[in-house]
Amino acid sequence: EKGNFRHFMLKEIFEQPATADLWISRYLPDDLPVEAPVALPFDNSFFDPIEEIQILACGTSRHAAMVGAYLLEQFAGIPTTVFFASEFRYAAPPLAPNTLTIGVTQSGETADTLSALAMEHERRSACNDIAFASRQLGVTNMVESSLARQVSNILDIGAGLEVGVAATKTFLGQLLTFYGLAIMFAARRKARSANEILDLCNQLRSLPKQLRNLIETHNELTEKLSHQFSETKDVIFLGRGINYPIALEAALKLKEISYIHAEGYPAGEMKHGPIALLDKKVAVVSIATKGIVFEKALSNAQEAKARDACLIGIGPKVPETDIFDHLLPIPQVSEWISPLLTIIPMQLLSYHIAAHRGLDVDQPRNLAKSVTVE
Ligand code: M6R
Repeated sequence: EKGNFRHFMLKEIFEQPATADLWISRYLPDDLPVEAPVALPFDNSFFDPIEEIQILACGTSRHAAMVGAYLLEQFAGIPTTVFFASEFRYAAPPLAPNTLTIGVTQSGETADTLSALAMEHERRSACNDIAFASRQLGVTNMVESSLARQVSNILDIGAGLEVGVAATKTFLGQLLTFYGLAIMFAARRKARSANEILDLCNQLRSLPKQLRNLIETHNELTEKLSHQFSETKDVIFLGRGINYPIALEAALKLKEISYIHAEGYPAGEMKHGPIALLDKKVAVVSIATKGIVFEKALSNAQEAKARDACLIGIGPKVPETDIFDHLLPIPQVSEWISPLLTIIPMQLLSYHIAAHRGLDVDQPRNLAKSVTVE
């Protein structure tokens, strides 16, 4: 039930600290050895033969996979490619050896993802060479789903039932799962020092508290800000690096529940075309968190401001972020865990814009919670 919340989506946004708490107590207890710092339900040798990863997913799950790919490549050093499941099904790349295929679907019922996984399993099973054997892993919130029947290794994100069509807490659960996988790969492959691994684990452990504070603050801030969007027709979300998928996810959230046209772009790409769209009627929401692309992200935001766009920033409250017309402040955390925080104002902003317009947030037009046709 919705309790005191007006919509399930808002309730589920508020449930995210609990999602993180549960995930941490299940997968990241603090007594694990440094060679295997995450409690995953399969033998650690599972990770050892893998040289490459491909991830198949749709919608929000694909955005979580993109953050995952960033972590798997940049933190754990393992080449990773993310595919739209619907495209992979009909145009898969040539087979590569020692590859892990991860299917991500919160419902476990998305037809595009299930059939892409089945096709991949079939073509690998037809190969006699052991190097090309089918190795699959499913990431889901539904351990009794078609995915769980189809794929033998399953990682439960354990977010609890999500009712709103717009995925929120399951996205956080999927992100956390990828943190767990990246940490495990990094530990097994010795891609990171014990200290770096411990540091990331500890940052994750402090997440629930940070999320609690952030959700309270941003719920108020974004509700106020949403009034300025009454007439807005176009919103562009910019992000870079590990936060580029968060810009994509923010645009998807906004379009699905508010029906406002929204695009997510890697900020550096704006000057190659999309900047022509900007004028004072367009809102630009730019993620600029401390890290290797901080200055670049700010200068991309400046370029948008110079075209009179209304500029909203998501980043730390420091003198450099004064350029924003409105700042949705994020604590200064390491770049690695920043997507787990930047997603919060994005979800809340979309929610309040749609709620302010009086729309049916939990059941947006033309959409269903799971898409069981290809
Ligand atoms: O159940 P899945 O995770 O496979 O669903 C994939 C997409 O249909 C889903 O994420 C969709 O994009 C959501 N409505 C997003 O909020």
